[in-house]
Amino acid sequence: MHKIKIPPKNTDSSLKILKATFKDHYTYEGQMIQKYGDIYRFKLFNKTCYSISHPDHMKHVLLDNMQNYIRPREGSFSQKAFIEYCGNPNNLRHTTDQQYWKKSGDAVIPPFFSKERFQGYCSAIAESVLKMTAKWETNIKAGEPVNIKEEMLKLGSRAIMENLFDLKDFDFDRFYMEKTRVFAQIGKRGVLPSFLHWLLPSQDKKDWQEGNTYLHHFTESIINQRIGRQNTHKDIICCLIEAFKDAPNKEQMLANFNSEFRMYLVTGETLGAGLNHALAILSGHSSVEDKVHDELARVLKGNIPEYDSLNTLSYLGCFIKEALRFCTPAPLLTRITLKDDEISGYHVPKDTLIFLRHYWNHRHPDFWDNPERFIPERFKDKPWGQDHEYAYTPFSGGPRACIGGRFGMHFYTVVLATLLQKYRFKLLPGASAVPEGVAISFPKDADRMIVLRRG
Ligand code: HEM
Repeated sequence: MHKIKIPPKNTDSSLKILKATFKDHYTYEGQMIQKYGDIYRFKLFNKTCYSISHPDHMKHVLLDNMQNYIRPREGSFSQKAFIEYCGNPNNLRHTTDQQYWKKSGDAVIPPFFSKERFQGYCSAIAESVLKMTAKWETNIKAGEPVNIKEEMLKLGSRAIMENLFDLKDFDFDRFYMEKTRVFAQIGKRGVLPSFLHWLLPSQDKKDWQEGNTYLHHFTESIINQRIGRQNTHKDIICCLIEAFKDAPNKEQMLANFNSEFRMYLVTGETLGAGLNHALAILSGHSSVEDKVHDELARVLKGNIPEYDSLNTLSYLGCFIKEALRFCTPAPLLTRITLKDDEISGYHVPKDTLIFLRHYWNHRHPDFWDNPERFIPERFKDKPWGQDHEYAYTPFSGGPRACIGGRFGMHFYTVVLATLLQKYRFKLLPGASAVPEGVAISFPKDADRMIVLRRG
């Protein structure tokens, strides 16, 4: 007879779990997985939660029975801030739901991530890298560190605004500042249950309110500028306006547009975080750095990369994949169950909050040899680094996986190929560069790094 199992229970109190999450999420989670295994349950106040970190479990939630595992929506623990920021993520059909695209034939967004489009983005991205590095010269000469985290975040945001949205004439620095204020608050509010949000200091509340008001006006002004324009499917904004043109009124249209547009703004963070990790990793792996540099010198001979050269940079490609495994920018995703279910024989009740731990999935000892070692070569002959497609999930998986993965990989290749031909990056003394952050991960103490010009 089929016997249903109940996963082991982490009995730590909600407060202890929250405290550990704030303090050192990665060490705590590693210990819990060590103690309880690939699937375990715990309580966050009154909410039943499951932690999963096995590729089979990932596949079950993201693909096999994905209809039962939706993104957390209003009322779910700790999602209030994100939902206030961009609405119920289950409604973001045009940007995210690939099944919707297939069914409706309304595939307006995917062409923006195609190979053909990227040929056009490639030189624009390389140029913005060169513009950025020109500003570093004073710091380099003085041996002063450069704020690499901020520079990489700006580069990621700019790439999206300029290439995918065709937005060039606006006050980027103001936009970046306000967006950063809002994102910092999503991070803080995201780990607090909503009834504790009142605990936050008043500057946090001010940042949240003023930043969101700015973003609201920013989006409204874009819509007003574009709305009467001939739709040429030139950029994603035109496509989203077209997609929502049948909304019952302008307010509704703005709300729909706003949600999808704001989701794209988050992606600048994942782009920046991945670059920050990549540069911090190189600083501690000199033999990998030498190999990356030798390949760049051989293939590009001092030139900026062009689209056709990207695929010939095979070692750099392996390095980027391994960096996305080792310090994945989106280490944790959540889902809510609509009905009772079973994951590998374990009972999962309705309305359970599932924590998909991609960081630990990328370190599962049954699928990765020496998971704590940084080895780009593991991707040499295997696109996923090993044999199970769901053991490598930097872009998540299934029909709701990241739509910008290809853009992200190309973006990283162009940026790193341009930067690393000219510069080396060194962590400050004592910086550990271990990952920190729950929703988006950055290397600890690696925001500022020393940049050395290659001789
Ligand atoms: C290379 C860096 C990136 C990483 C590591 C990354 C990773 C992810 C992950 C893990 C998800 C979650 C999917 C899920 O819920 O199962 C996601 C969603 C998404 N990504 Fe990316 N992404 C990156 C870059 C981008 C870029 C450049 C874009 C587009 C400009 C993009 C657009 C999206 C969108 C629209 C979603 C859906 C969000 C949602 O509905 O929750 N991503 N991404």
